[in-house]
Amino acid sequence: MDKIVSLAKRRGFVYQSSEIYGGLNGCWDYGPLGVELLRNVKEQWWRSMTFREDVEGIDAAILMHPRVWEASGHVANFTDPMVDCKECKARFRADQLEDALCGSPAYKGRKAVKCQAEGKFTEARQFNLMFKTFIGPVDDAGAVVYLRPETAQGIFVNFLNVQSASRQKLPFGIAQIGKAFRNEINTKNFLFRTREFEQMEMQFFVKPGTDVQWFEYWRGERMRWFADLGMRAERLQFHQHEPDKLAHYAKEAFDIEYQFPFGWGEIEGIHNRTDFDLSQHQTFSGKSMQYFDDGTKERFLPYIIETSAGASRSFMAFLVDGYREEDAPTADGGTETRVVLRLHPKLAPVKAAVFPLVNRDGMPELARTIEQGLRPHYRVFYDDSGAVGRRYRRQDEVGTPYCITVDSQTLQDHTVTVRDRDSMQQERIASDAILRYLRDHLG
Ligand code: GAP
Repeated sequence: MDKIVSLAKRRGFVYQSSEIYGGLNGCWDYGPLGVELLRNVKEQWWRSMTFREDVEGIDAAILMHPRVWEASGHVANFTDPMVDCKECKARFRADQLEDALCGSPAYKGRKAVKCQAEGKFTEARQFNLMFKTFIGPVDDAGAVVYLRPETAQGIFVNFLNVQSASRQKLPFGIAQIGKAFRNEINTKNFLFRTREFEQMEMQFFVKPGTDVQWFEYWRGERMRWFADLGMRAERLQFHQHEPDKLAHYAKEAFDIEYQFPFGWGEIEGIHNRTDFDLSQHQTFSGKSMQYFDDGTKERFLPYIIETSAGASRSFMAFLVDGYREEDAPTADGGTETRVVLRLHPKLAPVKAAVFPLVNRDGMPELARTIEQGLRPHYRVFYDDSGAVGRRYRRQDEVGTPYCITVDSQTLQDHTVTVRDRDSMQQERIASDAILRYLRDHLG
């Protein structure tokens, strides 16, 4: 994990938020390559959802009417048990003391559970994870609003707006990507548990009685999405929630887990939310949330199958899954270790790099012409500094699928070499066929 965090910073994927001020715990900034990878993850998800005939997209506000969070159960239930250490004043999640380290420098490396055994902790009390702020200039209780802890509620409250505007019939879904905020007691493991993150959520509205079948359908679809984007199957698994561990809104739930270096961790939750949310909003708002089936002339509250992925956690899982250290041949016939990010080409931040072999004999000009020709179509990178082997390594490390090199043969027959990131094999193709080559290989 340390190697990946260090690569992420060095190559501009992820930086600590407000780093020059010592950082802000649980918040991260995405650098030039990170923002591309994150956008590509979100774009693939958005396409997989909204290019379907039966899913519409929305983008709801982060701030919502405070009654939304009473109806959803977040004001009453979205809490974690918290304890304070009377000695070092650190705060911990009472149910995660095995994982947490004592906050006292005098006990470096000691697990918090030991301090608990010695009676250093206060009694556990419930801590609500929602961030509070005030709307307008008055900071009194009547002006309290919350930063949304999930994007889902923006979908539920818009269910009938979207349904009537799009003239969708059940079953159909609404998809949304957006920021969510949780004032986690302990953040940990890089992007895994943060206070500000992005979610990619889709709520699929179905007729009660068909929910079990749609739950199974979406469980399969979502696992396939990660696998189709190249995630290794042996590092993915389902984890079913035991009945006594189900969230207050769920009838059935499975997590998709990825095997991170620190262990298995949830990257997406798939929940059968029944009609809990629509029925709560109907009660709290006094507005009917019923669907009218003009075939059977029935009115009813649909059940909801939710697929809820973390964009930030998926980003981290793709980064971790892509990271490899491999033996690679050197120019003098030896071997060296190369770091390569085997990202799916659809996710790679840069699709191709263009190099002149040397900075003379007209090679840079030719390489620049090729780069300019590709730029309107793909995100490409031009590099003319250092030995070509070093340039290949720099691109391997950030997951660039293809490197195109202009060499002395190009000057004679207008062909270039194209090197494949994963096999490291090179082939010669005509320089005017590069765009077609990339289209065939990248889509
Ligand atoms: N609407 C349901 C919901 O929000 P969740 O299991 O609490 O369910 C869904 O969250 C996903 O959001 C998780 O699988 C995870 O990928 C992401 N997520 C949740 N809390 C997070 C945090 N503190 N930091 C980063 N990602 C988080």
